[in-house]
Amino acid sequence: MQVRAQTVQAFNYKVEKHGIFREAAVASAHPLASKVGRMILAKGGNAVDAAIAMQWALAVVYPQAGNIGGGGFMVAHLNDGRNLAIDYREMAPAAAYRDMYLDEDGSVNSRKSIDGHLAVGVPGTVAGLFASHRYAKLPMATLIAPAIELAKLGFAVTAAEARGLNSLQSRFKQFNTSGNAFIRDVPWQEGDTLVQTDLANTLMRISVAGEKGFYEGETAQLIVAEMQRGHGIITLDDLKNYKAKYRDAIIFPYKGYKVITMPLPSSGGIILQQMMGMVEPYSIGKFKHNSAEAVQLMTEIERRAYADRAAFLGDEDFVNVPVAAITNPGYLTRRMQGYQPGIAGNSEQIQAGQIPDPSEQTTHLNVLDAAGNAVSVTTTLNGSYGSKVVVSRAGFFLNNEMDDFSAKPGVANMYGLVGNEANAIAPGKRMLSSMTPTIVLKENQPYIVTGTPGGSTIITSVFQTLLNVIDFKLDAMETVNAPKFHHQWLPDVIDVEADFPEPVIEALEKMGYKVHKRGAIGRTELIIKHGENGQIEAVGDKRGDDSVAGI
Ligand code: DON
Repeated sequence: MQVRAQTVQAFNYKVEKHGIFREAAVASAHPLASKVGRMILAKGGNAVDAAIAMQWALAVVYPQAGNIGGGGFMVAHLNDGRNLAIDYREMAPAAAYRDMYLDEDGSVNSRKSIDGHLAVGVPGTVAGLFASHRYAKLPMATLIAPAIELAKLGFAVTAAEARGLNSLQSRFKQFNTSGNAFIRDVPWQEGDTLVQTDLANTLMRISVAGEKGFYEGETAQLIVAEMQRGHGIITLDDLKNYKAKYRDAIIFPYKGYKVITMPLPSSGGIILQQMMGMVEPYSIGKFKHNSAEAVQLMTEIERRAYADRAAFLGDEDFVNVPVAAITNPGYLTRRMQGYQPGIAGNSEQIQAGQIPDPSEQTTHLNVLDAAGNAVSVTTTLNGSYGSKVVVSRAGFFLNNEMDDFSAKPGVANMYGLVGNEANAIAPGKRMLSSMTPTIVLKENQPYIVTGTPGGSTIITSVFQTLLNVIDFKLDAMETVNAPKFHHQWLPDVIDVEADFPEPVIEALEKMGYKVHKRGAIGRTELIIKHGENGQIEAVGDKRGDDSVAGI
């Protein structure tokens, strides 16, 4: 393929945090990816086209999380009424086994599931983008072309990307025996050009040969050679056997709206459904947003939902998960027994629920197009720059998603999440995720399109985003940028962002809660279609380079 003169202004761009558009809008973690999305929509592509092109672009311009070496989920509502949930989560290689991250004394060696070649799950993104393409209008070569151009001709890195690359140079050198585009002797600075020739060639192989350009042939051989250099276990067969899966989206009602979100192997949709179901009877809108009363109620709900996550959830293709039982309204009402306004609960007393039938750095983007198709995608390498391993001569980072399995029952992963047998490692199994791409319909038309990265905090951030709009009636900018909080059962603390109101923290401490201040929670993208005037409002989170565009 010939790469002609630059079609995306990759050296002169700015972040757009907010936009109001008449026809269509996109929101993503990087201004260049949002520009690519807008360009595809202007060319006649639909929301799925734009979402695919934005993911290819993010793999180039946002290497800490945008990826072809990771995996993700796409949730969509098409204007003919169909709802989609496409699963391109990574899977454990055939040689993986339950105790692979335990030392001889039986303790978990989490470095092995976090850094380097053994942390890598079989990548799903490329298969996922081709599975999504069934619903697109433009040829894949058109959707991948902007990414090839950005990789080949380069682009100016943002200050945040420069910081990210600088902070991990020593680990990049530790896990990569040959040089690559990300390793340099002089520190990266805002505005420096990042050219990724190896990645451009990989993307060209995919453009020419389709999925086989990644899962077979030269790219697959380069991945396996990289694995062998670092004692990784992914084989040519693992790559060839990888399939994206079409799942049934989770759809549930909330106060007359319809919420469409991701099923297993994400825990996100089930846990969101539990939390929305538990909060619905309480008319939480009578409390002020982020008041002690509201935060306490939501914390007690989050505690109960995350206890169930740890006990019951895992890849349903491998284990029985009592999904219907734990999302049943009667069960959710019983779960809230024992909730006492003004008094902290605790995670020793509140364990996973009794079920009646015992059967035993990420990134988000949204697109809403003029035809009424809505797409919500969360995609990940897991940690920032994943395993830190770049496939030599293929130019992309590999994920460290294996850490999302439960390496040993009850032992926390890098997000402090504990799990159980349901999420134990097995060959071919997909590790439990928290990614929660979500769409809310009002009168059967797309109303809210949202999602965020943030590991375990993803689900509680989406929970807050929906309540902020529907119950607390915040405007779109406040909904995204207001201080967030999070509770995940264990550890038994409420995490709050640094700008969380002090009087509320004090009130929660008086009730008996431990409150812990931490850095930013997530990076939410939000599109709202206003019924009154048909305007489409898009917001990119203030917490990153997140940026919107539209028509
Ligand atoms: O799938 C998951 O739940 C995690 N691998 C997501 C990681 C993430 O959001 C990191 N970003 N901050």
